[in-house]
Amino acid sequence: MKKILFVASECVPFVSSGGLGDVIGSLPAALKKEYGDKADIRVMIPLYAQIGETYREKMELLCHFDVPLAWRRQYCGVLSLIKDGITYYFLDNEYYFKRQSLYGSFDDGERYAFFCRAALESLQRIDFIPDILHAHDWQSALTVVYLKYKYGLVPEYSGIKTVFTIHNIQYQGIYDKAILGDVFDIPNSDEAVLEYDGCINLMKGAIVCADRVTTVSPTYAKEILSPQFSHGLHYVLEQNKGKLCGILNGIDTSYYDPASDTELYANYSARSLKGKRADKEELQKLMGLPADPDIPVLAVISRLVDHKGIDLITLAADDILQKELQLIVLGTGDSYYEQFFACLAERYPRKAAVRFAFDKSLAKKIYAGADIFLMPSRSEPCGLAQMIASRYGAVPLVRETGGLYDSIHDIGCPGGGNGYTFAPYSVWELYQAVGRALEGYSRKESWETLVKTVMRWDFSWKKSAKQYIKQVYGL
Ligand code: GLC
Repeated sequence: MKKILFVASECVPFVSSGGLGDVIGSLPAALKKEYGDKADIRVMIPLYAQIGETYREKMELLCHFDVPLAWRRQYCGVLSLIKDGITYYFLDNEYYFKRQSLYGSFDDGERYAFFCRAALESLQRIDFIPDILHAHDWQSALTVVYLKYKYGLVPEYSGIKTVFTIHNIQYQGIYDKAILGDVFDIPNSDEAVLEYDGCINLMKGAIVCADRVTTVSPTYAKEILSPQFSHGLHYVLEQNKGKLCGILNGIDTSYYDPASDTELYANYSARSLKGKRADKEELQKLMGLPADPDIPVLAVISRLVDHKGIDLITLAADDILQKELQLIVLGTGDSYYEQFFACLAERYPRKAAVRFAFDKSLAKKIYAGADIFLMPSRSEPCGLAQMIASRYGAVPLVRETGGLYDSIHDIGCPGGGNGYTFAPYSVWELYQAVGRALEGYSRKESWETLVKTVMRWDFSWKKSAKQYIKQVYGL
């Protein structure tokens, strides 16, 4: 029996701020399906204040103990619950995790150092020593480093192998060197493992220490070896290239299923799109736009930040809105972009509608009601929105980068594709691609065929779960 422990900073359905939470909430179940009885897969996350009562009621307190963190001794409670055959552990410390938001506190370095140290301290106490500890992104990176540098002499832990997954290389956990001894409890003599460019860099430490490093698409795995995408880490990755691979994420196709989704006004499937037409009309009404089945609805659901290509959308918006279409934007992010879209909706009240929120229920209504889904990211490790949009029959229009390149192929490709793509990062290219998509939309019959093809495209975890088992967990 293979024992695998995921350590991460968020997990659907308990608490999530984006794609990372989706992956942690769906990959373990997919692995379990493939392994059958041959694996025991568990997940460990912080017990944030944001985790709701419905889950807390079901949790059981397993143990509590003090965690050493340099000169500190901090309480940690371990709670657990089992959901769909997966055991979840929640590490409790209100001082660190009862905050307004998941990230962005002045002491995030200390909070996640605590989490990582507590995770390792808990293993013996919960009697689950994994064969593989799979850590995700910088918040969990120290588990990989600690295992080597702090727990190397603990015999029970000596067999644990580590996998580190980069979900987004932009966020590395970079701190002043003073944090090393005072918080991380790592002596200066071991500084080299975490030092990068004059700072302490948690992601770098995990890349160096992990037995395997993965990222969330094959193309991103290549891209991050170059300075254009690496946010400074290309040297370290080049040196550790031999243990790096990219595996495309999947989505939970039963959670994202227009045939059974209770958030939708009407359900539908690739067999009949009648329900989708009703959802479109409801969406138009909900957003205060004229309810017209013939007008194509373009949607953006995204964090409103640079790397998502939002600047291209802002620059193309006026020209695009000269055409007969409606544009719906949902997301939160940089105030510059929020202001831009608020003005846009005022200037085009019958054509553009925006909501600034992280709202999963509204997002599903938009995926269902939209005809075309825009995702012109400057860089995209994997991207899940294009897969979710496909599942709901909103044809993706993406820029060819990272996981977008690996998941969406232009309909002009030999053998046919599942969306519209463009490569150079330019407003003109985006504008052209939108023009092609609108032309496609105007040919009703072939459009419906495309929508059905897109909906049937396999974005489940099946293939990727198999790859993890073969290429990564086999080590
Ligand atoms: C990050 C990436 C996104 C990816 C997700 C899950 O949020 O930005 O591209 O899909 O992680 O791996």
